[in-house]
Amino acid sequence: MDLYEYQARDLFNKHGVPVLPGKVASTVEEAKAAFTALEVPLAVVKAQVKTGGRGKAGGVKLARSVEEAAANAQAILGMNIKGHTVYRVMVVAGADIDREFYFSILLDRANRQNLAMCSVEGGMEIEQLAKEKPEALAKVPIPASGMDVTVARQIADEAGFDPETAAKVVPVFLKLWDVYTGEDATLVEVNPLVATPQGDIIALDGKVTLDDNARYRHSEHAELVDQRAADERELKAQEAGLNYVRLEGQVGIIGNGAGLVMSTLDVVAYAGEKYGTKPANFLDIGGGASAEVMAKGLDVILTDPQVKSCFVNVFGGITACDEVANGIIGALQILGDQATKPLVVRLDGNKVEEGRAILKAANHPLVTMMETMDEAADKAAQLAAK
Ligand SMILES: Nc1ncnc2c1ncn2[C@@H]1O[C@H](COP(=O)(O)OP(=O)(O)OP(=O)(O)O)[C@@H](O)[C@H]1O
Ligand SMILES: [Mg+2]
Repeated sequence: MDLYEYQARDLFNKHGVPVLPGKVASTVEEAKAAFTALEVPLAVVKAQVKTGGRGKAGGVKLARSVEEAAANAQAILGMNIKGHTVYRVMVVAGADIDREFYFSILLDRANRQNLAMCSVEGGMEIEQLAKEKPEALAKVPIPASGMDVTVARQIADEAGFDPETAAKVVPVFLKLWDVYTGEDATLVEVNPLVATPQGDIIALDGKVTLDDNARYRHSEHAELVDQRAADERELKAQEAGLNYVRLEGQVGIIGNGAGLVMSTLDVVAYAGEKYGTKPANFLDIGGGASAEVMAKGLDVILTDPQVKSCFVNVFGGITACDEVANGIIGALQILGDQATKPLVVRLDGNKVEEGRAILKAANHPLVTMMETMDEAADKAAQLAAK
Protein backbone atom coordinates (compact mmCIF):
# COMPACT_ATOMS: atom_id res chain seq x y z
CA MET A 1 0.00 0.00 0.00
CA ASP A 2 1.37 3.39 -1.03
CA LEU A 3 0.80 6.18 1.45
CA TYR A 4 -0.03 9.82 0.92
CA GLU A 5 2.65 12.34 1.77
CA TYR A 6 0.81 13.46 4.91
CA GLN A 7 0.58 9.86 6.14
CA ALA A 8 4.29 9.34 5.45
CA ARG A 9 4.97 12.58 7.29
CA ASP A 10 3.03 11.30 10.33
CA LEU A 11 5.11 8.10 10.36
CA PHE A 12 8.32 10.11 10.01
CA ASN A 13 7.26 12.25 12.94
CA LYS A 14 6.43 9.18 15.03
CA HIS A 15 9.98 7.87 14.54
CA GLY A 16 11.69 11.21 15.15
CA VAL A 17 12.53 12.12 11.56
CA PRO A 18 12.52 15.96 11.42
CA VAL A 19 9.47 17.23 9.51
CA LEU A 20 7.65 20.55 9.46
CA PRO A 21 4.28 21.15 11.11
CA GLY A 22 1.37 20.74 8.73
CA LYS A 23 -2.35 20.02 8.50
CA VAL A 24 -4.53 18.24 6.00
CA ALA A 25 -7.50 20.05 4.46
CA SER A 26 -10.20 18.86 2.10
CA THR A 27 -11.96 22.20 1.67
CA VAL A 28 -10.87 25.80 1.15
CA GLU A 29 -12.25 26.68 4.61
CA GLU A 30 -10.16 23.95 6.23
CA ALA A 31 -7.10 25.17 4.34
CA LYS A 32 -7.63 28.70 5.66
CA ALA A 33 -8.01 27.39 9.21
CA ALA A 34 -4.88 25.26 8.75
CA PHE A 35 -2.85 28.25 7.59
CA THR A 36 -4.02 30.35 10.52
CA ALA A 37 -3.32 27.58 13.02
CA LEU A 38 0.24 27.12 11.74
CA GLU A 39 1.15 30.72 12.66
CA VAL A 40 3.96 30.90 10.11
CA PRO A 41 4.84 33.70 7.69
CA LEU A 42 5.21 31.24 4.81
CA ALA A 43 3.34 28.01 4.14
CA VAL A 44 3.15 25.61 1.24
CA VAL A 45 -0.12 24.14 -0.05
CA LYS A 46 0.58 20.67 -1.44
CA ALA A 47 -1.71 18.35 -3.41
CA GLN A 48 -2.06 14.95 -1.74
CA VAL A 49 -2.01 12.39 -4.53
CA LYS A 50 -0.15 9.13 -4.86
CA THR A 51 2.01 10.20 -7.76
CA GLY A 52 5.15 12.27 -8.25
CA GLY A 53 5.65 15.44 -10.23
CA ARG A 54 3.10 17.36 -8.20
CA GLY A 55 5.34 20.43 -8.19
CA LYS A 56 5.64 20.51 -11.96
CA ALA A 57 1.88 19.98 -12.35
CA GLY A 58 1.14 23.07 -10.25
CA GLY A 59 0.16 21.07 -7.17
CA VAL A 60 2.71 22.68 -4.80
CA LYS A 61 2.20 26.39 -4.17
CA LEU A 62 3.61 28.90 -1.69
CA ALA A 63 1.25 30.97 0.48
CA ARG A 64 2.24 34.06 2.46
CA SER A 65 -1.25 34.97 3.67
CA VAL A 66 -4.51 33.28 4.52
CA GLU A 67 -5.96 34.69 1.27
CA GLU A 68 -3.15 33.14 -0.72
CA ALA A 69 -3.59 29.82 1.11
CA ALA A 70 -7.30 29.91 0.21
CA ALA A 71 -6.61 30.73 -3.43
CA ASN A 72 -4.04 27.94 -3.68
CA ALA A 73 -6.33 25.39 -2.06
CA GLN A 74 -9.12 26.50 -4.42
CA ALA A 75 -6.82 25.95 -7.40
CA ILE A 76 -5.36 22.64 -6.24
CA LEU A 77 -8.41 20.84 -4.78
CA GLY A 78 -10.15 18.99 -7.58
CA MET A 79 -7.10 19.22 -9.81
CA ASN A 80 -6.24 16.15 -11.86
CA ILE A 81 -2.59 15.15 -11.59
CA LYS A 82 -1.63 12.30 -13.91
CA GLY A 83 -5.10 10.80 -13.59
CA HIS A 84 -5.32 11.28 -9.80
CA THR A 85 -8.01 13.63 -8.47
CA VAL A 86 -6.88 15.84 -5.60
CA TYR A 87 -9.29 15.41 -2.68
CA ARG A 88 -6.97 16.83 -0.02
CA VAL A 89 -4.14 19.28 0.33
CA MET A 90 -1.56 19.53 3.06
CA VAL A 91 -0.86 23.01 4.33
CA VAL A 92 2.64 22.85 5.73
CA ALA A 93 5.14 25.35 7.10
CA GLY A 94 7.48 26.71 4.46
CA ALA A 95 11.14 25.82 4.75
CA ASP A 96 14.13 28.00 4.09
CA ILE A 97 16.07 25.76 1.73
CA ASP A 98 19.82 25.93 1.35
CA ARG A 99 20.47 22.56 -0.32
CA GLU A 100 18.28 19.65 -1.49
CA PHE A 101 19.34 15.99 -1.21
CA TYR A 102 17.89 12.64 -2.16
CA PHE A 103 17.58 9.64 0.15
CA SER A 104 15.70 6.35 -0.06
CA ILE A 105 15.65 2.84 1.33
CA LEU A 106 13.95 0.15 -0.68
CA LEU A 107 13.53 -3.57 -0.92
CA ASP A 108 15.80 -4.69 -3.75
CA ARG A 109 13.96 -7.90 -4.60
CA ALA A 110 16.29 -9.00 -7.40
CA ASN A 111 19.26 -9.02 -5.05
CA ARG A 112 17.29 -10.05 -1.95
CA GLN A 113 18.50 -7.17 0.14
CA ASN A 114 17.56 -3.74 1.37
CA LEU A 115 19.23 -0.97 -0.55
CA ALA A 116 19.88 2.65 0.36
CA MET A 117 20.18 5.24 -2.39
CA CYS A 118 21.44 8.73 -1.73
CA SER A 119 22.64 11.79 -3.56
CA VAL A 120 23.67 15.32 -2.68
CA GLU A 121 21.93 16.33 -5.89
CA GLY A 122 18.31 16.36 -4.77
CA GLY A 123 15.31 18.08 -6.24
CA MET A 124 15.69 16.20 -9.50
CA GLU A 125 13.53 13.18 -10.20
CA ILE A 126 15.39 10.06 -9.23
CA GLU A 127 14.83 8.31 -12.57
CA GLN A 128 16.33 11.31 -14.33
CA LEU A 129 19.27 11.47 -11.92
CA ALA A 130 19.97 7.74 -12.30
CA LYS A 131 20.02 8.16 -16.06
CA GLU A 132 21.86 11.44 -16.48
CA LYS A 133 24.26 11.40 -13.53
CA PRO A 134 24.53 7.83 -12.28
CA GLU A 135 27.84 8.62 -10.60
CA ALA A 136 26.05 11.13 -8.36
CA LEU A 137 23.71 8.46 -6.97
CA ALA A 138 25.23 6.26 -4.27
CA LYS A 139 23.75 2.77 -3.94
CA VAL A 140 24.65 1.04 -0.70
CA PRO A 141 23.34 -2.43 0.15
CA ILE A 142 22.21 -2.67 3.76
CA PRO A 143 23.58 -5.77 5.51
CA ALA A 144 21.12 -8.31 6.88
CA SER A 145 21.97 -7.12 10.40
CA GLY A 146 20.46 -3.73 9.50
CA MET A 147 21.65 -0.16 9.19
CA ASP A 148 23.97 0.97 11.96
CA VAL A 149 26.07 4.13 12.28
CA THR A 150 28.86 2.63 10.19
CA VAL A 151 26.52 1.84 7.29
CA ALA A 152 24.80 5.23 7.59
CA ARG A 153 28.20 6.96 7.46
CA GLN A 154 29.16 4.91 4.43
CA ILE A 155 25.96 6.09 2.67
CA ALA A 156 26.71 9.73 3.46
CA ASP A 157 30.30 9.26 2.37
CA GLU A 158 29.52 7.63 -0.95
CA ALA A 159 26.84 10.22 -1.68
CA GLY A 160 29.48 12.93 -1.37
CA PHE A 161 28.43 14.81 1.78
CA ASP A 162 31.03 17.04 3.40
CA PRO A 163 31.96 15.81 6.91
CA GLU A 164 29.96 18.50 8.70
CA THR A 165 26.72 17.79 6.82
CA ALA A 166 27.37 14.04 7.00
CA ALA A 167 27.37 14.26 10.79
CA LYS A 168 23.92 15.83 10.59
CA VAL A 169 22.29 13.52 8.05
CA VAL A 170 23.55 10.25 9.57
CA PRO A 171 21.14 10.35 12.55
CA VAL A 172 18.29 11.16 10.15
CA PHE A 173 19.20 8.15 7.96
CA LEU A 174 19.07 5.95 11.08
CA LYS A 175 15.62 7.27 11.98
CA LEU A 176 14.41 6.65 8.43
CA TRP A 177 15.71 3.11 8.82
CA ASP A 178 13.55 2.87 11.97
CA VAL A 179 10.55 3.91 9.86
CA TYR A 180 11.45 1.30 7.23
CA THR A 181 11.80 -1.60 9.65
CA GLY A 182 9.39 -0.50 12.37
CA GLU A 183 6.50 0.03 9.97
CA ASP A 184 7.35 -2.92 7.68
CA ALA A 185 7.86 -0.72 4.63
CA THR A 186 9.26 -1.78 1.27
CA LEU A 187 10.05 1.83 0.33
CA VAL A 188 10.89 4.97 2.25
CA GLU A 189 11.88 7.88 0.04
CA VAL A 190 12.67 11.48 0.90
CA ASN A 191 12.99 13.81 -2.09
CA PRO A 192 13.99 16.38 -1.13
CA LEU A 193 15.75 15.98 2.17
CA VAL A 194 16.93 19.54 2.77
CA ALA A 195 19.47 21.51 4.74
CA THR A 196 18.41 24.96 5.91
CA PRO A 197 20.85 27.89 6.03
CA GLN A 198 21.00 27.27 9.80
CA GLY A 199 22.19 23.74 9.09
CA ASP A 200 19.02 21.89 10.13
CA ILE A 201 18.07 18.76 8.19
CA ILE A 202 14.37 18.35 7.29
CA ALA A 203 12.39 15.79 5.31
CA LEU A 204 10.32 18.03 3.00
CA ASP A 205 8.60 15.24 1.12
CA GLY A 206 7.89 11.60 1.94
CA LYS A 207 6.94 8.56 0.00
CA VAL A 208 6.28 5.31 1.86
CA THR A 209 5.09 1.94 0.63
CA LEU A 210 3.98 -0.50 3.32
CA ASP A 211 4.28 -4.25 2.90
CA ASP A 212 0.67 -5.52 2.76
CA ASN A 213 1.82 -8.99 3.80
CA ALA A 214 2.86 -7.55 7.15
CA ARG A 215 -0.42 -5.78 7.74
CA TYR A 216 -1.46 -8.31 10.40
CA ARG A 217 1.37 -6.94 12.53
CA HIS A 218 0.05 -3.39 12.32
CA SER A 219 -3.59 -2.99 13.29
CA GLU A 220 -2.84 0.76 13.45
CA HIS A 221 -2.27 0.80 9.68
CA ALA A 222 -5.91 -0.08 8.93
CA GLU A 223 -6.87 3.60 9.13
CA LEU A 224 -4.33 4.41 6.42
CA VAL A 225 -6.36 2.55 3.80
CA ASP A 226 -7.89 5.03 1.41
CA GLN A 227 -11.54 4.03 1.19
CA ARG A 228 -12.26 6.64 -1.45
CA ALA A 229 -9.60 5.43 -3.86
CA ALA A 230 -10.04 1.70 -3.30
CA ASP A 231 -12.27 -0.07 -5.73
CA GLU A 232 -15.70 -0.63 -4.23
CA ARG A 233 -15.79 -4.20 -5.48
CA GLU A 234 -12.33 -5.01 -4.18
CA LEU A 235 -13.44 -3.82 -0.74
CA LYS A 236 -16.55 -5.99 -0.88
CA ALA A 237 -14.46 -9.02 -1.91
CA GLN A 238 -11.94 -8.30 0.83
CA GLU A 239 -14.70 -8.21 3.43
CA ALA A 240 -15.92 -11.58 2.16
CA GLY A 241 -12.39 -12.98 2.39
CA LEU A 242 -12.11 -13.57 -1.36
CA ASN A 243 -9.00 -13.19 -3.47
CA TYR A 244 -10.21 -10.74 -6.09
CA VAL A 245 -8.54 -8.38 -8.53
CA ARG A 246 -10.60 -6.31 -10.93
CA LEU A 247 -9.41 -6.04 -14.52
CA GLU A 248 -10.76 -4.20 -17.54
CA GLY A 249 -12.82 -6.81 -19.37
CA GLN A 250 -16.28 -8.30 -19.85
CA VAL A 251 -15.91 -11.96 -18.87
CA GLY A 252 -16.23 -12.54 -15.13
CA ILE A 253 -14.05 -15.38 -13.85
CA ILE A 254 -14.52 -17.59 -10.79
CA GLY A 255 -12.39 -20.59 -10.00
CA ASN A 256 -10.98 -22.55 -7.10
CA GLY A 257 -7.24 -22.34 -6.66
CA ALA A 258 -4.97 -19.52 -7.81
CA GLY A 259 -3.25 -21.64 -10.46
CA LEU A 260 -6.51 -22.70 -12.06
CA VAL A 261 -7.83 -19.14 -12.06
CA MET A 262 -4.61 -17.85 -13.64
CA SER A 263 -4.80 -20.36 -16.46
CA THR A 264 -8.52 -19.60 -16.86
CA LEU A 265 -7.61 -15.95 -17.43
CA ASP A 266 -5.17 -17.09 -20.12
CA VAL A 267 -7.63 -19.25 -22.03
CA VAL A 268 -10.39 -16.63 -21.80
CA ALA A 269 -8.03 -13.91 -23.03
CA TYR A 270 -7.04 -16.17 -25.91
CA ALA A 271 -10.62 -17.12 -26.81
CA GLY A 272 -11.71 -13.50 -26.47
CA GLU A 273 -9.38 -12.33 -29.21
CA LYS A 274 -11.96 -13.63 -31.68
CA TYR A 275 -14.86 -11.73 -30.08
CA GLY A 276 -13.09 -8.64 -28.77
CA THR A 277 -13.68 -9.60 -25.13
CA LYS A 278 -11.34 -9.94 -22.16
CA PRO A 279 -11.37 -11.32 -18.61
CA ALA A 280 -13.04 -8.91 -16.18
CA ASN A 281 -11.33 -10.09 -13.01
CA PHE A 282 -9.34 -12.65 -11.07
CA LEU A 283 -11.37 -14.40 -8.38
CA ASP A 284 -10.20 -17.42 -6.42
CA ILE A 285 -12.85 -18.79 -4.07
CA GLY A 286 -10.33 -21.18 -2.55
CA GLY A 287 -10.80 -24.74 -1.40
CA GLY A 288 -14.22 -24.78 0.29
CA ALA A 289 -16.58 -23.59 -2.42
CA SER A 290 -19.74 -23.63 -0.32
CA ALA A 291 -22.99 -22.11 -1.60
CA GLU A 292 -22.37 -19.09 0.59
CA VAL A 293 -18.84 -18.47 -0.70
CA MET A 294 -20.01 -19.05 -4.27
CA ALA A 295 -22.86 -16.56 -3.72
CA LYS A 296 -20.45 -13.94 -2.39
CA GLY A 297 -18.17 -14.46 -5.38
CA LEU A 298 -21.02 -14.32 -7.89
CA ASP A 299 -22.41 -11.26 -6.15
CA VAL A 300 -19.11 -9.40 -6.54
CA ILE A 301 -18.86 -10.34 -10.20
CA LEU A 302 -22.46 -10.19 -11.45
CA THR A 303 -23.16 -6.77 -9.94
CA ASP A 304 -20.18 -5.34 -11.83
CA PRO A 305 -21.60 -3.30 -14.73
CA GLN A 306 -18.65 -4.13 -17.00
CA VAL A 307 -19.32 -7.89 -16.72
CA LYS A 308 -21.44 -9.39 -19.52
CA SER A 309 -20.95 -13.11 -18.86
CA CYS A 310 -19.34 -15.26 -16.20
CA PHE A 311 -17.19 -18.36 -16.42
CA VAL A 312 -17.24 -20.63 -13.37
CA ASN A 313 -14.32 -23.02 -13.64
CA VAL A 314 -14.07 -25.53 -10.81
CA PHE A 315 -11.90 -28.54 -10.33
CA GLY A 316 -13.41 -30.70 -7.62
CA GLY A 317 -10.95 -31.81 -4.98
CA ILE A 318 -11.63 -31.85 -1.26
CA THR A 319 -14.77 -29.94 -2.12
CA ALA A 320 -16.39 -32.26 -4.62
CA CYS A 321 -18.26 -31.16 -7.76
CA ASP A 322 -21.68 -32.05 -6.36
CA GLU A 323 -21.18 -29.58 -3.51
CA VAL A 324 -19.99 -26.95 -5.99
CA ALA A 325 -23.03 -27.55 -8.22
CA ASN A 326 -25.31 -27.15 -5.21
CA GLY A 327 -23.31 -24.04 -4.38
CA ILE A 328 -23.97 -22.51 -7.78
CA ILE A 329 -27.70 -23.26 -7.67
CA GLY A 330 -27.89 -22.03 -4.08
CA ALA A 331 -26.01 -18.89 -5.03
CA LEU A 332 -28.38 -18.13 -7.90
CA GLN A 333 -31.29 -18.53 -5.48
CA ILE A 334 -29.68 -16.19 -2.98
CA LEU A 335 -29.01 -13.61 -5.70
CA GLY A 336 -32.51 -13.93 -7.18
CA ASP A 337 -33.28 -11.02 -9.52
CA GLN A 338 -29.73 -9.74 -9.25
CA ALA A 339 -28.54 -12.67 -11.34
CA THR A 340 -29.22 -11.63 -14.92
CA LYS A 341 -26.03 -12.56 -16.76
CA PRO A 342 -25.24 -15.86 -18.47
CA LEU A 343 -23.08 -18.30 -16.55
CA VAL A 344 -20.85 -20.85 -18.25
CA VAL A 345 -19.92 -23.66 -15.89
CA ARG A 346 -17.19 -26.20 -16.35
CA LEU A 347 -16.83 -28.87 -13.68
CA ASP A 348 -14.18 -31.54 -13.49
CA GLY A 349 -12.54 -33.73 -10.90
CA ASN A 350 -14.00 -35.38 -7.82
CA LYS A 351 -17.68 -36.39 -8.32
CA VAL A 352 -17.94 -34.61 -11.67
CA GLU A 353 -20.85 -36.80 -12.88
CA GLU A 354 -22.92 -36.06 -9.78
CA GLY A 355 -22.18 -32.34 -10.12
CA ARG A 356 -23.22 -32.20 -13.74
CA ALA A 357 -26.39 -34.17 -12.96
CA ILE A 358 -27.36 -31.60 -10.32
CA LEU A 359 -26.92 -28.70 -12.74
CA LYS A 360 -28.80 -30.55 -15.46
CA ALA A 361 -31.72 -31.29 -13.14
CA ALA A 362 -31.88 -27.67 -11.98
CA ASN A 363 -32.07 -26.56 -15.63
CA HIS A 364 -31.44 -22.93 -14.74
CA PRO A 365 -32.03 -20.65 -17.75
CA LEU A 366 -28.82 -18.67 -17.16
CA VAL A 367 -26.52 -21.67 -16.80
CA THR A 368 -24.72 -23.36 -19.69
CA MET A 369 -22.55 -26.38 -18.94
CA MET A 370 -19.46 -27.14 -20.97
CA GLU A 371 -17.19 -30.16 -20.76
CA THR A 372 -13.76 -28.71 -21.38
CA MET A 373 -12.04 -25.55 -20.26
CA ASP A 374 -11.35 -24.40 -23.84
CA GLU A 375 -14.97 -24.86 -24.93
CA ALA A 376 -16.23 -23.09 -21.84
CA ALA A 377 -13.80 -20.19 -22.31
CA ASP A 378 -14.91 -19.82 -25.91
CA LYS A 379 -18.59 -19.85 -24.94
CA ALA A 380 -18.15 -17.30 -22.14
CA ALA A 381 -16.06 -14.99 -24.36
CA GLN A 382 -18.70 -15.24 -27.09
CA LEU A 383 -21.62 -14.56 -24.72
CA ALA A 384 -19.84 -11.47 -23.41
CA ALA A 385 -19.66 -10.02 -26.92
CA LYS A 386 -23.44 -10.06 -27.39
N1 LIG B 1 7.50 22.83 3.08
C1 LIG B 1 8.15 23.34 2.01
N2 LIG B 1 8.78 24.53 2.09
C2 LIG B 1 9.43 25.05 1.03
N3 LIG B 1 9.52 24.45 -0.14
C3 LIG B 1 8.93 23.25 -0.30
C4 LIG B 1 8.21 22.64 0.78
N4 LIG B 1 7.73 21.46 0.33
C5 LIG B 1 8.14 21.35 -0.95
N5 LIG B 1 8.86 22.41 -1.34
C6 LIG B 1 9.50 22.63 -2.66
O1 LIG B 1 8.68 22.08 -3.68
C7 LIG B 1 9.36 21.06 -4.39
C8 LIG B 1 8.41 19.94 -4.76
O2 LIG B 1 7.83 19.41 -3.59
P1 LIG B 1 7.71 17.86 -3.35
O3 LIG B 1 9.03 17.22 -3.55
O4 LIG B 1 7.07 17.67 -2.04
O5 LIG B 1 6.70 17.41 -4.46
P2 LIG B 1 6.88 16.39 -5.70
O6 LIG B 1 5.57 15.80 -6.02
O7 LIG B 1 8.00 15.48 -5.44
O8 LIG B 1 7.17 17.42 -6.82
P3 LIG B 1 8.27 17.40 -7.94
O9 LIG B 1 8.20 16.05 -8.58
O10 LIG B 1 7.89 18.52 -8.81
O11 LIG B 1 9.58 17.61 -7.20
C9 LIG B 1 10.49 20.62 -3.48
O12 LIG B 1 11.59 20.13 -4.19
C10 LIG B 1 10.82 21.89 -2.71
O13 LIG B 1 11.74 22.67 -3.45
MG1 LIG C 1 9.37 15.17 -4.08
